Amino acid sequence: MVAILGYSREQITSAVQDMYTQVANAPQSRFHFPVGYRALSALGYPENQIEQLPGDIAASFAGVGYPFNGGAIRTGDTTLDLGAGAGNDSFLALSLTGPTGRVISLDLTSAMTRKLKQRANEEGASIEVIQGTAEHLPFASNSLDSITSNGALNLVPDKRRAIREMFRTLKPGGRLQLADVVIDKPVTVDCDSDPRLWVECVVGATVEESLLAMLEDAGFEDIRIIRRINYFDHSPSHQTREIAKSFGARSIEIAARRGSQPPGFLRQWLRRSHPKRWLTALGKRGFLSIAALGLALLTCYGILAATFLLATLGVQVTLDLQLWSGSIAVFTALTVLAVATGKRRHHQLAPTWAAVAGAGLVFFTLFVTYLFIIELVGFIMLIGAVFWDLILRRKDEARRLGLTR
Ligand SMILES: C[S@@+](CC[C@H](N)C(=O)[O-])C[C@H]1O[C@@H](n2cnc3c(N)ncnc32)[C@H](O)[C@@H]1O
Repeated sequence: MVAILGYSREQITSAVQDMYTQVANAPQSRFHFPVGYRALSALGYPENQIEQLPGDIAASFAGVGYPFNGGAIRTGDTTLDLGAGAGNDSFLALSLTGPTGRVISLDLTSAMTRKLKQRANEEGASIEVIQGTAEHLPFASNSLDSITSNGALNLVPDKRRAIREMFRTLKPGGRLQLADVVIDKPVTVDCDSDPRLWVECVVGATVEESLLAMLEDAGFEDIRIIRRINYFDHSPSHQTREIAKSFGARSIEIAARRGSQPPGFLRQWLRRSHPKRWLTALGKRGFLSIAALGLALLTCYGILAATFLLATLGVQVTLDLQLWSGSIAVFTALTVLAVATGKRRHHQLAPTWAAVAGAGLVFFTLFVTYLFIIELVGFIMLIGAVFWDLILRRKDEARRLGLTR
């Protein structure tokens, strides 16, 4: 995890490099995530593999899982360890590819690549070490048989691009094994300019479904989640454990195979605009209430305006009043429900009561006596309730992240 002061690429890169320079040069320091032998054992690296690792390399291990559960690496493979860090997985990959294979380690942080290069030379291990970024892989297309990556993707600003790069450089049918941090609920508050926020692994991590969707969008097939790990339970920091819990942060191990070609534009577009993806994304960000209220307003005033407009153009449309009022009522009720779910996060009932009162006025005008002004007041109350709930959700999130003093 990294002290992140903002979201610009430069700020993220420099915060990541500072943190992992320390992991490389002073692994005995106190970190907010498990490091070294403790982490290797906690994540399930077999003892006989841990024993193979050079001591100073093992001490700087900062992975989040055991990606070898994905079984991607074969004898004779050209394998890339992406975000290799001190190179523990590179050494293990070398024992799998054998003398006929080739292992390349790439990492952003120069202290890590220096450490690995020096140790690989001393050990006579033929690991090629490159400093670079996952967003621009310096390899030809279709040149790798397998990629292993452990804990790096959550630190990359443009994950979609990094995944496309993995696809481009793998040969068709090439294999990917990945361990990374994912979250249940995205961080939506503005985290800029707070130096106390030591949660980059959470802030930078992707929602599990989005990570799988990105792999699928890039053209990966047979995507399998092999293991979910309560990685943050091993964090020495109480605050990090609490933050991770409230965002459902954990690590996962994934295996996938590169398909023969990336999906065409139309297929990608259809996948990305699938209503289930949108609903999930809106729900995870707490925006379902805005969506439901938007639909209620559109059904009420939008249809009315369209009917009026068509009439002025000489096209007569007859509204089915029952269907119309019914639809408005359904979307209004959904708005109240969506607002009510906010109580689980901020524990306040007031926005729900405001929404119920607003919905009551709208229902009155729909099913008892129509009065424009009452309907309008009802919708204004609903709008207020929706934003009140959203503000309370954001405040709660900021409090959980330790952003409020
Ligand atoms: C959590 S550490 C894991 C290191 C290593 N895989 C291990 O298991 O010990 C993440 C590593 O990813 C590297 N990294 C972060 N952003 C990167 C990027 N954009 N491209 C390549 N490597 C990156 C960091 O320098 C760091 O060494």
